[in-house]
Amino acid sequence: MEIEELIARATQARENACAGYSHYRVGAALRASDGKIYTGCNVENSTYGLTVCAERVALWKALSEGERTFTQLAVVTASDPPASPCGACRQVLWEYCGNLEVVLANLQGLRRALRLSEIFPQPFDQRSL
Ligand code: THU
Repeated sequence: MEIEELIARATQARENACAGYSHYRVGAALRASDGKIYTGCNVENSTYGLTVCAERVALWKALSEGERTFTQLAVVTASDPPASPCGACRQVLWEYCGNLEVVLANLQGLRRALRLSEIFPQPFDQRSL
């Protein structure tokens, strides 16, 4: 199944997390409309504030490769229940991916499927300008 493949890729990306400060590993996998998958892990920094989340790493990789439309995102953590994207990631995902299908998963096999608008219901975006 397509979503299982995406979760597997996010789980794999999580292994590369640079999470030496929080020890909290996150993996993300973003599917572009052409079917290609872009993965990301969280990359932490000693300043803490310069840390970048897994979701944004995956999105930056995809955008910088020329992708502009997306269908699905999987986020994998060890949390129970599965963790959902932070506020900053919700804002940038909304900007570039619109009302994306998001699947939150954990290592125990729990999954929660939702649309981005469910966790980001009243966005500020270009229509607000
Ligand atoms: N983190 C993510 O990668 N994605 C999220 O949506 C939430 C938080 C990372 C940032 C930091 O490296 C660690 O998880 C703890 O906050």
